[in-house]
Amino acid sequence: MGLFTGKKGMVFGIANDKSIAWAITQKLHEEGAEMGFTHLPDHDPERPKMERRLRKLVEPIGAKVIMPCDVAKDEDVDAVFAAAKDAFGELDFVVHSIAYAPIDDIKGPVYACSRDGFKLSMEISCYSLINLAGKAKDLLVEGGSILTLTYLGGERVIPGYNIMGVCKAALESSIKYLASELGSECKVRVNGLSAGPVKTLAASAVSDHSQMDELYSAMAPLRRNINREEVGKAGMFLLSDLASGITGENLHVDAGFHVMGAPTPEVSGR
Ligand SMILES: NC(=O)c1ccc[n+]([C@@H]2O[C@H](COP(=O)([O-])OP(=O)(O)OC[C@H]3O[C@@H](n4cnc5c(N)ncnc54)[C@H](O)[C@@H]3O)[C@@H](O)[C@H]2O)c1
Repeated sequence: MGLFTGKKGMVFGIANDKSIAWAITQKLHEEGAEMGFTHLPDHDPERPKMERRLRKLVEPIGAKVIMPCDVAKDEDVDAVFAAAKDAFGELDFVVHSIAYAPIDDIKGPVYACSRDGFKLSMEISCYSLINLAGKAKDLLVEGGSILTLTYLGGERVIPGYNIMGVCKAALESSIKYLASELGSECKVRVNGLSAGPVKTLAASAVSDHSQMDELYSAMAPLRRNINREEVGKAGMFLLSDLASGITGENLHVDAGFHVMGAPTPEVSGR
């Protein structure tokens, strides 16, 4: 019997097999979870690229729901939770693994971010968690759990992360408020996982992966970067009953990089 045998959840944010949400899904599946999934709406019905990519991954693991969802549209989010209710009745978990900022706004400097770019980045990368939590709470069972993905750029300045760092700071604050509200109201936990650099579609907009790998190899206490599977299993842990006493937390899965306050001897030469 797996940790998730008999448990059901919705996963938002698989774009392809490199997505962090897919790494978490694989671990949830190994532990017996039943899941539903969303993809970004396809604009060309003749060539539904997003849907096809997602189906290829999740049909073989028995996906119960596969739906388009633009988190900027309430009607999409409502339709997804209505379908989840039909398919599952109740939910044990929700994975929110979504972020977006327009390329012209994320390239920085932060002070040059446009008003509309700021609103859109915040809406997709932060408000979407608040909105999903509000809409999911009545479906989530007591002891249920919500997980979101964040990055150190929300706590400290990471050159290149720019406006997304501002969004992650707001997201990380939202985790705490939501954990307080949902914990007392319905005994639902809300946590964040702050992942080290993983080579994905979204990450290609903010960093050069090989440079980040080098940085983590030189600076992190473990003297290496993390891998996708480590993020997947820690995500699964936070969603599971093993983490039943953990909420409002931001768990760093970054080989310890976030604890360093000065360059290592390898970097400083001292
Ligand atoms: N890759 C990294 O190094 C890294 C590190 C720390 C945190 N994260 C975070 O992990 C999460 C997942 O990113 P990823 O790296 O797996 O990249 P990804 O590109 O695979 O996933 C991003 C997802 O966001 C979805 N998305 C964007 N706009 C949306 C919208 N309007 N409606 C619905 N979905 C939308 C995309 O469809 C995609 O599935 C993000 O929050 C990201 O900031 C990534």
